[in-house]
Amino acid sequence: MQRIKRHIAVCLLLIAAFAGTGCGAVPAGTSPAPVPAEAVSQSPEAASHSPQEPNAVPQDEPVEDDEHAARNAVLVAYFSATGTTRGVAERIAALTGADLAEILPAQPYTSEDLNYHDRSTRASAEQSTPDARPEIANEISFDGYTTIFLGYPIWWGQAPRILDTFVESHVFTGLTVIPFCTSGSSDIGQSDDSLAALAGSGTWLQGRRFPGDVSVDELRSWISEIGLSNTEKALCLRINETLVSVDWEESESVDALIGLVSSAPLTIRMSGYGGFEQVGPLGTSLPRNDTQTTTHAGDIVLYSGDQFVVFYGSNTWAYTLLGKITDMPASELEKLLSSSDVTVILSLE
Ligand SMILES: Cc1cc2nc3c(=O)[nH]c(=O)nc-3n(C[C@H](O)[C@H](O)[C@H](O)COP(=O)(O)O)c2cc1C
Repeated sequence: MQRIKRHIAVCLLLIAAFAGTGCGAVPAGTSPAPVPAEAVSQSPEAASHSPQEPNAVPQDEPVEDDEHAARNAVLVAYFSATGTTRGVAERIAALTGADLAEILPAQPYTSEDLNYHDRSTRASAEQSTPDARPEIANEISFDGYTTIFLGYPIWWGQAPRILDTFVESHVFTGLTVIPFCTSGSSDIGQSDDSLAALAGSGTWLQGRRFPGDVSVDELRSWISEIGLSNTEKALCLRINETLVSVDWEESESVDALIGLVSSAPLTIRMSGYGGFEQVGPLGTSLPRNDTQTTTHAGDIVLYSGDQFVVFYGSNTWAYTLLGKITDMPASELEKLLSSSDVTVILSLE
């Protein structure tokens, strides 16, 4: 087992620099964590919908191929008794394109169990018993992963004993482990070192404590600091193999989109709607911030949280703006998008 400090970790984890491709202004770097995904809407009939609807929403589920079924290289494993660490874990996963796995106690913690005003209640009693090993209900496999973010709340200055159960029942050899925790105010203290010692294998980086409301920007810069980001990669959009330049928004939605395509391109078969847009399924929901918008040719929006829409005309509805195509005259865009057979490919290059 190795314990290495963050600055060394940067060197170990730093992804080889990529030449910029000029695909578009990209607000955020993200992890190279593979998220193989190919979302392909299935049938042209998917575009049929009520004329009252503002957008075509293909009803078919995205087709998942073998690549989509493949595992990511980064896993965010976490324990969360009251949801705070879960929220941070979800943000880390969105930024890195990682898989998420929750460590579930065989006997869930009740609010009485968590009452730290009474030192005799379960959580406090476990913390004062160094060899307490609460049972875990679920299996979490490390197969195919190279990096594990390990999240937990601080209980009486330590990681909950269920983390001891977790690290003692897993082999971390060959893995890089990045501990993180949430707490009311305490720092991570020795909790990351203690877990590393109990694990006895793996390369453990220095852990970090976050408040529950830590911003995406702060998490992004931490992830970048530890070398899992690659800010030189650009989010690229191809429409029927034509690379178009996009000015992407700086938003949680775009961060999540970057996470989604961070290791493998995402192909979306689009459906035309209304003579003003092409729409297709992302295969997953992204964070949304819908606002009533009148779109223009070249606008790229998220509709209904999980639909990727590119406009070559105008419509008014509540969307989340993702970006704007910058280098294509409206007439050319219309030619490209008004066809009945449009495929969009999103990739990090
Ligand atoms: C039994 C217990 C002990 C705690 N001890 C501490 C502590 O020592 N320091 C601290 O800052 N917060 C402490 N907290 C607060 C939690 O660390 C904090 O609320 C955390 O974000 C909860 O994460 P979760 O919602 O993912 O379970 C404690 C909470 C519990 C239930």
